[in-house]
Amino acid sequence: MSGPLLQVLGLGVRFGALHAVQDVSFDVQPGAITAVIGPNGAGKSTLFNLISGAIRPGSGSVMLEGRELTGAAPHQMLAAGLARSFQITNLFFELPVRENLRLAAQFLERGQGLLRPLSRSHLAQARVTELIEHFGFAEKIDELAGSLSHGEQRRLEIAVALAARPRLLLLDEPTQGMSHADTRETERLIRGLACQHGLAILLVEHDVDLVMALSDHVIVMHQGRKLAEGTPAAVRANPSVQAAYFGDKHLVGETCSN
Ligand SMILES: Nc1ncnc2c1ncn2[C@@H]1O[C@H](COP(=O)(O)OP(=O)(O)OP(=O)(O)O)[C@@H](O)[C@H]1O
Ligand SMILES: [Mg+2]
Repeated sequence: MSGPLLQVLGLGVRFGALHAVQDVSFDVQPGAITAVIGPNGAGKSTLFNLISGAIRPGSGSVMLEGRELTGAAPHQMLAAGLARSFQITNLFFELPVRENLRLAAQFLERGQGLLRPLSRSHLAQARVTELIEHFGFAEKIDELAGSLSHGEQRRLEIAVALAARPRLLLLDEPTQGMSHADTRETERLIRGLACQHGLAILLVEHDVDLVMALSDHVIVMHQGRKLAEGTPAAVRANPSVQAAYFGDKHLVGETCSN
């Protein structure tokens, strides 16, 4: 199909008197990495909650592949091809890595009876095997998710979000609290998902260098509104964005083609 994968139009929600997200519109192109940046409290996570169906918009619309999905529940969004990870790690810590992936991959077998033994869930089993390989978890499959390092947990969370084979993945601060080495590893992982597997990724990220290096397109949020959008270079050069956000950061670019 041609045209945008995701279209967000005039999206907004109020929490009492606070307009947490107000009249936000943008598109996400297939296979592109789109970053949402902005100061704390700008409305980034709320925007993700609105898009992914975690909270109902007060106004505006969300369309995926031309299909109207405004106000749909998260499982309906997932069935339509949109998956998300959370700013706070959202794993079953007391279960092994394999079970975390299996429970998520079980979504592929929906309508065929949930929670069957792994041996009878061929679609889910094949997906779990793929993810274990792709994310390098072969040595860790029997370890409890709660015993993994912080970086490994964040990557497992991305794997869990990918289990249902989405076409759009929303990642809320995937490198939060990570070491420099883990951040670089996650950057490589995200770029690989978009460049090699054609997955569209929408991510909230505070690490400006990472955003500049990774993104095809950047959306800047400020006080619930979209302040600017464009290529990393255009956004970086925008005086109002610089005033609101960038300080002295320098542009370091690397995309699929280089
Ligand atoms: N459920 C809620 N009820 C009331 N206010 C909320 C709720 N969720 C978020 N807010 C408020 O909405 C505003 C936007 O919050 P949000 O979490 O979307 O910001 P953010 O850009 O993700 O910030 P951060 O960078 O710190 O994660 C904040 O003022 C926050 O306190
Ligand atoms: Mg947030």
